[in-house]
Amino acid sequence: MSLSIVILAAGKGTRMNSALPKVLQPLGEQALLHHVIDTAKQLDPTRICVVIGHGAEAVQSRTSADVEWVMQQEQRGTGHAVQQALPAIPDDDRVLILYGDVPLTRLETLAELLSEDQGVGLLTVELDNPTGYGRIVRESGEVVAIVEEKDANDAQKAITETNTGIMSGRCGDLKQLLDNVGCNNAQGEYYLTDIVGLARSAGMPIHTAQPGAEWEVLGVNNRDQLESLERLMQINRVQALLDAGVTVKDRNRLDIRGAVTAGRDVVLDVGVVLEGQITLEDGVVIGPYCVVRNSHIKAGTVLQPHCVVEDAVVGESCKVGPFSRLRPGAALAGHNNVGNFVEIKNSSIGHGSKVNHLSYVGDAELGERVNVGAGTITANYDGANKHRTVLGDDVSTGSNSVLVAPITVGAGTTVGAGSTVSKDIEAGALAYTRAPLKTRSDWESPKKKAKKG
Ligand code: UD1
Ligand code: CA
Repeated sequence: MSLSIVILAAGKGTRMNSALPKVLQPLGEQALLHHVIDTAKQLDPTRICVVIGHGAEAVQSRTSADVEWVMQQEQRGTGHAVQQALPAIPDDDRVLILYGDVPLTRLETLAELLSEDQGVGLLTVELDNPTGYGRIVRESGEVVAIVEEKDANDAQKAITETNTGIMSGRCGDLKQLLDNVGCNNAQGEYYLTDIVGLARSAGMPIHTAQPGAEWEVLGVNNRDQLESLERLMQINRVQALLDAGVTVKDRNRLDIRGAVTAGRDVVLDVGVVLEGQITLEDGVVIGPYCVVRNSHIKAGTVLQPHCVVEDAVVGESCKVGPFSRLRPGAALAGHNNVGNFVEIKNSSIGHGSKVNHLSYVGDAELGERVNVGAGTITANYDGANKHRTVLGDDVSTGSNSVLVAPITVGAGTTVGAGSTVSKDIEAGALAYTRAPLKTRSDWESPKKKAKKG
């Protein structure tokens, strides 16, 4: 039987108090809805239908996944929402209903729910405090109905088995059941949950499954819940890294927003933020308060505190930081030192080369064993275009040199301190500019004036 997935995402999310539609709020670096779509995709459905209403345009334009959009103009209840999606789905398909604001449901849990394919399937959860949720009413162990909090009597309110909202059923059955759902209830809405009582009356089997953990079915209605889920997800991701052999200094002071692949004996210190696709090879140490995005850091390299590394490749056994910035296109070959207040952009740094203090290296190609002196600047921008700087092997630049690109400095050349180098230099030379040093012996240093009165 083919599977179609319907994701409800039409609600406004008033309690987020945000200009952004609720399902676009980020968890990690991905919108809530995109987490749900990712999980849905892994079930390999023939289609994913997303029911949208509030903020529909924003939701559509910010979702690149291949889904079918269904408009629900007026939010008249969860039953009404599902009804908008069903006409596009063949009667014989299995339908799984998910929610754009319930982002962390595990694949195994959904597979468990779908493993039984007769009648209606419900994902239910036991909650210590079931307030606000629909209650699962059973008779002799069999589910007979779901009662919403607002429609429940005291005995029903005492039930702790609750409805997560996640359901499954044959499309044809759901269509028929939903056709018979009315809105004569406390909220005047078409409740999806009413199909359960109707299915029971029609003699259809109703089966239930439960998630492995409560957080799998938690939804986001306000920023408080969003923060709680962010932490939960972070803790889960950290746990996976710990299991893989990574040392984490404090699981509560580390954020993994993207996908991290880590080798053995990697150390992640406090305050580290990892975003996008990150590869950390064996023995990499990321010091306190580093932010690393879309980068590959090779074996044995150490990032000292407060580095920012983005779209960069850092070779083996490098020492970077503290306070270094590697910008997109920075490629360190290996055994490099990059020190404080150094910015490297779109540049390849050869094996063993060092840029230790206060430098800007942009659009450059450095050979091996180059030593870039403190305060060296590649002047790569003429106000209109960017130009390249090429430094051969074993070049050494003195402190405060300016290399005016485009420029090539041959291997083994030394650039004297304070020089502005504006033409190519051949290999093995000494290149320097010197304004003559002047001294005056008749000079007196200024004195403070005596204060009046
Ligand atoms: C729903 C369930 C309740 C369950 C709870 C779990 C119903 C009637 N009740 O209640 O049994 O315990 O979820 O969280 O189903 N939506 C639409 N269009 C609509 C209405 C809702 O797309 O017309 C979407 C909302 O954006 C939201 C989801 O459906 O993401 C759930 O709707 P909501 O109104 O929050 O239902 P609850 O009252 O929480
Ligand atoms: Ca809700």
